[in-house]
Parts: sequence; C-alpha cells; structure tokens
Amino acid sequence: SKKPVRVAVTGAAGQIGYALLFRIASGEMLGKDQPVILQLLEIPDEKAQNALKGVIMELEDCAFPLLVGIEAHSDPMTAFKDTDYALLVGARPRGPGMERADLLAANAQIFTVQGKALNAVASRNVKVLVVGNPANTNAYIAMKSAPDLPAKNFTAMLRLDHNRAASQIASKTGKAVAGIEKLAVWGNHSPTMYADYRFATIDGQSVKTLINDEAWNRDVFLPTVGKRGAAIIAARGLSSAASAANAAIDHMRDWALGTNGKWVTMGIPSDGSYGIPKDVMFGYPVTCEGGEYKIVQGLEIDAFSQECINKTLKELTDEQDGVKHLL
Ligand code: NAI
Repeated sequence: SKKPVRVAVTGAAGQIGYALLFRIASGEMLGKDQPVILQLLEIPDEKAQNALKGVIMELEDCAFPLLVGIEAHSDPMTAFKDTDYALLVGARPRGPGMERADLLAANAQIFTVQGKALNAVASRNVKVLVVGNPANTNAYIAMKSAPDLPAKNFTAMLRLDHNRAASQIASKTGKAVAGIEKLAVWGNHSPTMYADYRFATIDGQSVKTLINDEAWNRDVFLPTVGKRGAAIIAARGLSSAASAANAAIDHMRDWALGTNGKWVTMGIPSDGSYGIPKDVMFGYPVTCEGGEYKIVQGLEIDAFSQECINKTLKELTDEQDGVKHLL
C-alpha cells in the first residue's frame, strides 16, 4: 500500500473546512488508494480550538480507512511540518466598517506568516492552494514569503468560478455539464473574473455557436457567474461553503492526479503568457499531468476578451501594489 501523505488545512473549524475535511479523508481528493494524515490549523482562540476538537471527533467517528493520522495545531510552524499539500482556507473576513486596505493588510499579515512557515518546514514539493479571500493576492503574498520553494507550487482557487460557468452553460444549452470541454476563466477570483466559452465545446459542439448570443454572454452569463457568491449569501444567509470545498477538491485532485488533456482553471503565478506580467497570480486555462500544470497556449484573444482581461488584471495589480510595502 502507498505511503501516507500529509495534508495541511487551515481554517479547519470553519464552514468550508466542515465540507472539505471529510472528503479529503474519504479519498476523494488524492485517490481511494492514498492514505492521508490531516494537519489541521486553527487560530489559538479557545473557541476555535474547541470547535476543531469537535470536528476531529467526527472525523474519528467516520472510521475512514484512508485516514491514518489527525493533528490539531495553533501554530503554522508545526501545522505545515513536512506537509505535501496545503489548503489555506482560513482568512480574515471583512468586518463591519473595515476598509478594503485594512482587509488586505490583515490578510497580508496572515499569509506572510504562513508563507514563511511553509518555506521553513513544508515538503520541498508542497502543493499549495489558497482558498481564503482575497485568494489570488493571498497566494501571491504566501509565494513571495517563501523564496526557497518553487513559485509554481503556489496556486489560488478559480475552480469555483470555472464550475459555476460550466453549470450556467449546461443549463443554457440544455445539455449535461459533464460534456463540457475547453472552458477557461481568466484573472482574479472576484466579480471581475472573465469566464470565456469561446473555445468551449459541449458534447463536441461549439458552445459559442449553440448559444449564439453575445448580449447573453455580456449581460447575463458574466454577471451571473461573477455575482454567484453574493446570490448564494442572499438566498442561504451563509456563504457558498460546500461548493467552495468541492472546487478545492477538484483543484487539488486534478493538479495531483492529472486531467487527461481536459482544460481546467487554476490561479497560478504568470510566466508572462498572454501578456500578463510575470508572477501575477492569475486564473488561466491549464491541463495537468504528472503533478504539473501547463498553461493552454495559443488562444486567440479578441478585443472584447482583451478588455475583460485588462480589467481583472488591473484589479489584481492594484491589490498587489496595495500590499507591496508589507512584504
Ligand atoms: P469561516 O469563517 O466559516 O471559517 C474560517 C476559519 O478560518 C475560522 O474558523 C477561523 O477561525 C479560521 N482562521 C482565520 N484566520 C486563521 C489563521 N490565520 N490561521 C488558521 N485559521 C484561521 O469561513 P469559510 O466560509 O470557511 O470561508 C473561508 C475563506 O474562504 C473565506 O476567506 C472566504 O471568503 C473564502 N472563500 C473563497 C472562495 C474561492 O472561490 N476562492 C469561495 C468561498 C469562500
């Protein structure tokens, strides 16, 4: 049988954590033959640590055959020790009266500390996924705080946007979501993201031709995908935790186990592709194989797409400029 791998999850007692940990432990993320050790991090606060204890009791009570160890931590330096996978979910939410700059600064502090801890103690091959918002900028900060780890090991979650776009396209075309290929989401995990179905096919047919409605793309599809998180909060009274956890599972599984040529979206440090400045943590269409992702190259960027990409890029570079002095 396989050697266990170490999976660190931060914000483990939160909403997303509750929807995520049981699926990691059951083998949905890394395969039904891969034993895992969970290294769970929460803030030192007594209430959070108690809540984490409760989650651990439930994990134990599932008697998952693949779950060979569970650890509770309040310090990233121990939580990330030798970790092979790190899912950084915990973040500082925006409080009442908090300005955007305060939010960026509070998170910059968290992700600087966590990036440094990963740099010091994680496996040299650690795969890092940042879920906590602002996800792209938090991932950028962690990456910049971990100079001894390869920059490519740091990623941000755009997969929820990708899955939301796929679901909207399936319902618009009346076809099954499983038939969709070659969907791309560019940019920031925020309402500025650009979900791009110009190259997509569903059951082998061109999505753009099937839909054939540019006004729908611009006025319905893009705003619906961009504001889906807010729509779920309005309906449920709580944020989209289960679909976020599902997207995190998809992201890590595809990165680790490969996509068989299928395009998925990951937020990754730019290598300059498509004119995005190097190191900007940007959503790109990628394929994964052998534990590595590769940007889909050679896609034509028309005028409308360029405009959308510029807008989401501007937001990201503004965020990064806003935290530069903290790095
Ligand atoms: P939550 O508030 O239920 O849980 C967050 C947990 O993180 C809390 O238990 C808190 O104690 C913990 N935490 C805070 N700072 C921490 C730190 N420095 N170290 C360790 N733990 C820490 O929030 P929820 O719903 O689980 O969401 C978590 C994050 O994910 C939020 O920032 C949210 O905005 C983001 N998110 C991102 C999505 C994406 O697509 N990238 C989608 C949905 C949510």
